[in-house]
Amino acid sequence: MNADAKRSIAQDKAHHVHPQSNLRQHAENGPVMITHGKGVYIYDSEGREIIDGFSGLGCVSLGYHNERLANAAMRQMNTLPFAPTFYNRSHPKVAELGERLTALAPNGMTRAMFQCSGSEANDTAIKLLWYTNTAKGEPERRKIIGRVRGYHGNTIATVSLSGQPHMHAKFGLPLPEFKHTELPNYYRFHIDGETEEEFSVRMASKFEELILAEGPETIAAFFAEPAISGGGALMPPDGYWEHMQAVLRKYDIKLLSDEVVCGFGRTGNLWGSDTWGMKPDMVTCAKALSAAFFPISGLMFKDDMYADMMKNSDEVGVFGHGYTYAGHPVGAAVALEALDIYDEMDLVGHVRKVSEKFLSKCHALADHPLVAEVRGVGLFCGFELMKDAKTREPFDPALKVGEMVQNFAHDRGLYLRAIGDRISFMPPLIINEDEIEVATERFKGALDDASAVVRAKI
Ligand SMILES: Cc1ncc(COP(=O)(O)O)c(C=O)c1O
Repeated sequence: MNADAKRSIAQDKAHHVHPQSNLRQHAENGPVMITHGKGVYIYDSEGREIIDGFSGLGCVSLGYHNERLANAAMRQMNTLPFAPTFYNRSHPKVAELGERLTALAPNGMTRAMFQCSGSEANDTAIKLLWYTNTAKGEPERRKIIGRVRGYHGNTIATVSLSGQPHMHAKFGLPLPEFKHTELPNYYRFHIDGETEEEFSVRMASKFEELILAEGPETIAAFFAEPAISGGGALMPPDGYWEHMQAVLRKYDIKLLSDEVVCGFGRTGNLWGSDTWGMKPDMVTCAKALSAAFFPISGLMFKDDMYADMMKNSDEVGVFGHGYTYAGHPVGAAVALEALDIYDEMDLVGHVRKVSEKFLSKCHALADHPLVAEVRGVGLFCGFELMKDAKTREPFDPALKVGEMVQNFAHDRGLYLRAIGDRISFMPPLIINEDEIEVATERFKGALDDASAVVRAKI
């Protein structure tokens, strides 16, 4: 390791407080320091070349270098580096992005708002629901339902909506207006003999029970990722969205599709909601919107909601919400360039093509002694690790098998993400078949390494 890398690590260890990290471990071991990237590869301070099997945080759709995106940012910085979107002011890039994005949006959405992160997009959506329900004369419709292990962000509201116990503990959260329905992990939670379809019906009836217990008239919306990402790369079971949406329709409850990870091709369609036949009333997106080259997120919704917003702002005098950097010109310029690139290279078509090899290589790992279930779509795959795949007996959590696989993968040059004993594998969308071959070989090697350690311990 060179002197610069040593200095960076020392600086980081001494002063930088890391989100979503084990702080004690950081104090002892310091960070994994990534110094640069190219294509699907990242490079650490030890000089290791690593295939990024997690797309940074599920965001680096076009990999780690792209001159067009860099030039789009530079051009915009040299033309108009900042312009507010408050006070009825605008700039051409955000106007164009609003038009482009709503043209792509599912289910007749015509309006777009911009923020800098997925959290802010979802938080804004919650506020808009509260605001428009007031306009409709239903101010008591405030509760938002999420799912156990769902992930929607880290603001006080979006973390309340997320179903992640470690993000609530010691913070005094969730806030009371946020409720959570079941995690649809068929493999882990099905009753013996229950089909996927039957399991989905059971998930939907549990959802209905929650709605009835809370009072349907108090519920504003259900927020859901088409496939759960941060909760463990979990694809919905057969029939899940059909049955859940039937319940939503029955009680006239809105659906927000959180496309922060699934949006822009990850699942082999532009939107995850297309993949699973969801008909959302609102959509949030971020991450691949700018290929992660600049922080920008979007929230889209329909005209009826906009009409209610207008009604309230007429009364108050102004729509009282906004962030300084909402619709930042550089973010908007980079997002427009990313959308052009996606179109020109037919990114969705590419994902569909390479996903055949990706998924078949992933499924080939299903026979590995550590692996109980493999399930994926597009370039998004989740692996359930279990002591006994047949009896569904989990590993002792103290063994930290998932973390072990993640660490061995890193040593072999592959970045994967362990979420407990689930592994999330979601490489950049530009990955090619040769790179898939190498990545999955490294994954298998990491499973073998971990298996040898686990066998010695149990
Ligand atoms: C589905 C989903 N929604 C929202 C968020 C929050 O986005 P951000 O971290 O940009 O605030 C994330 C982050 O990973 C996410 O995966």
